[in-house]
Amino acid sequence: MRISKFLTVTIVTTAILLAGDVKGEVLIKKAKHNGLIAIPADKSELMKLIDKKKNITPERVKLGRQLFFDTRLSLDKTISCNTCHLLDQGGDDNVPVAIGHKGRENPHHINSPTVYNSVFFERQFWDGRSPDVEDQAKGPMVADVEMNITPQEAEKRIKAIPEYVKSFQKAYGKDVKITFGKIASTIGIFERTLVTPSRYDDFLNGDLKALTEAEQDGLALFIETGCTACHVGIALGGKMQPFDLSSGFEHNDIGDFKGNENGMIKAPSLRNISQTSPYFHNGTVINLIDAIKTMGKVQLLVDISDEEAKRIEIFLKSLEGRKPDTSAPKLP
Ligand code: HEC
Ligand code: HEC
Repeated sequence: MRISKFLTVTIVTTAILLAGDVKGEVLIKKAKHNGLIAIPADKSELMKLIDKKKNITPERVKLGRQLFFDTRLSLDKTISCNTCHLLDQGGDDNVPVAIGHKGRENPHHINSPTVYNSVFFERQFWDGRSPDVEDQAKGPMVADVEMNITPQEAEKRIKAIPEYVKSFQKAYGKDVKITFGKIASTIGIFERTLVTPSRYDDFLNGDLKALTEAEQDGLALFIETGCTACHVGIALGGKMQPFDLSSGFEHNDIGDFKGNENGMIKAPSLRNISQTSPYFHNGTVINLIDAIKTMGKVQLLVDISDEEAKRIEIFLKSLEGRKPDTSAPKLP
């Protein structure tokens, strides 16, 4: 008797576990079919994706990291990239509107996006005006509402610091010209390494236990609701998309940003989204549940219930990734 009871329990448990595994495998297929892509677990696969031009070396990453944290690249020496893109948080600043040189707010009421995983975006900036992180990095240094320095002054300051000169030579050879472009592209090379694999990636890469039942349910709902029409690829975003198809975005009157020449806005990555409130280009939505419901209303023209939004949120939270070392480096 005992033994047969034991057997029954074992068979039933195994069946349930197998059913769970099958469900998980079906969900992985469905996710991939809908354009979701995991960050590769394999280091060399990942390098192929983030280093197409084969520019990444440990020396350049180390130097780029220092420059990213160096406030001397702003006119009054108080602001660095890390001021608005805090690496020990979500890679942004958690305020609605970016605050730069002399405490000035972005005049278009633009919210700082995260720098994490931006290497995966097709375009940089909310309006996609820059093609990659190396090019992008020039913008904030010279922007009068951000770091407000001239290219000449940035070059002059870096060249005046012997340790930096040595590091540039180590990174690029002794004939290197320390130009503004080189400073920016070195920061960009560092940013290429700001990739945050999460349990969601582990799941897509085949570890069926990496996401809980509730997170898997949320992922399924995320796909079924249609979010993957825009939040796809490795970043779950990063491509130019139409915004506010319903013309019902409640905060349209905050700031004057209207996207690119076609009214398209870059769909932000949803990785680490639980750490990058407030949301949207003008930083007007604080709560993630509200952001999810807003997306339903303005992008998909569907009413997402509180209960459904909660389920999607549970999934989105699983996108919180493992960060590379976020500590401030020692500066020369
Ligand atoms: C004063 C705050 C501030 C500073 C300082 C700053 N940024 Fe930004 N960053 C922003 C804002 C705001 C945007 C969005 C601007 C836009 O889209 O027009 C942005 C956009 C970006 C993006 C594009 C991300 C995306 O989703 O498209 C990257 C990458 C980036 N910044 C990197 C940097 C680097 C590198 C530095 C230092 C050289 C820097 N930022 C300095 C506020 C700042
Ligand atoms: C038609 C394309 C499209 C669809 C479909 C879509 N989104 Fe978005 N999403 C965007 C764009 C574009 C933005 C940026 C809009 C802005 O800030 O002006 C955005 C912004 C967001 C944000 C805020 C991100 C941030 O960093 O500020 C969240 C969260 C979000 N979407 C989640 C979702 C969810 C969940 C769904 C499905 C219910 C969804 N989106 C469906 C295009 C889309």
